[in-house]
Amino acid sequence: MQGTAIAQPNIALIKYWGKRDIERNLPAVGSISVTLRELHTRMQVDFDDALAADALMVNDAPDEAMLPRLASCLDSVAGRDRPGARIVSTCNFPIAAGLASSASSFAALTVAAAKAAGESLDTARLASLAGRASGSAARSLLGGFVELENAGDDIVCRSLCGAEDWPLTVVVAITESGPKPVGSTEAMEISRRTSPFYSSWVDRQSHDLEIARAAIAARDLEKLAAIAEHNCLKMHSIMWASRPPMVYWNAATMRCLQTVRQLQGEGKGVFFTIDAGPQVKAVCLPEHATEVEAALRATPGVTDIMTTGLGEGARLESPG
Ligand code: PMV
Repeated sequence: MQGTAIAQPNIALIKYWGKRDIERNLPAVGSISVTLRELHTRMQVDFDDALAADALMVNDAPDEAMLPRLASCLDSVAGRDRPGARIVSTCNFPIAAGLASSASSFAALTVAAAKAAGESLDTARLASLAGRASGSAARSLLGGFVELENAGDDIVCRSLCGAEDWPLTVVVAITESGPKPVGSTEAMEISRRTSPFYSSWVDRQSHDLEIARAAIAARDLEKLAAIAEHNCLKMHSIMWASRPPMVYWNAATMRCLQTVRQLQGEGKGVFFTIDAGPQVKAVCLPEHATEVEAALRATPGVTDIMTTGLGEGARLESPG
């Protein structure tokens, strides 16, 4: 009754922001992401009839706060009448700071739980179950460039291009490692209810997705850069114009954007994206990664840098 799985976070290039159905956690818009390689979450799930209650350890410390969300994900995989679970999670990057730790956590948890429950589920079903817990988690079931479609009554992901078919590098500039002030579910709801830009965001998303899809198919970094930066800044504009306003950036976030602009001016193949946190992700051509990394490291306020390639989807840990 045990399963262990590994999943990597993904970074959205065309963002998921807003829910169409909160109950079923269906996104209001489609999105496109890249699955990373070097950052990961490992989840071990043990179902044990002798356990009176579920228990969660995250990086060797008990975590009561995250437990209810993880427990309900286990319910959706193994049924509400499942035995108690011992969940042990280890993550090699900062949690809840806009680095998509929920994506890798729920993707790994779903795969591990299905194994522990003895269920043999295909990737599409696992993605749908992970997506119910965290929309972006569905995308971490697949590797490389992934599209989460906004159609029908289920969460559906498909691969656009394998990691090895367009091996870009992502340089993550950490500017703050604490947890974010407002979680994405709440922030999405505030955006939907109060932002004057929300409806045009939803209306324009299929246009942005189409351009990004074409850019990926053509391996056209310049075209992808333009649409990804535009889409990211639109998402943050929705939040800035919400009531209360939600600003995830700090001064160093802005400085990193200037660094990326400077690198672009020097002809480097790089663009930025930012999620619900102050970190900046610079997506670049592997041949420019060293310069991008050095320039971001030298940017005042950057406390750490993580560089990663693109990787595969969530999977069971291979024995041995
Ligand atoms: O999946 P959630 O609920 O953590 O929301 C993800 C939201 C963003 O990271 C900001 C965008 C995205 O598409 O991943």
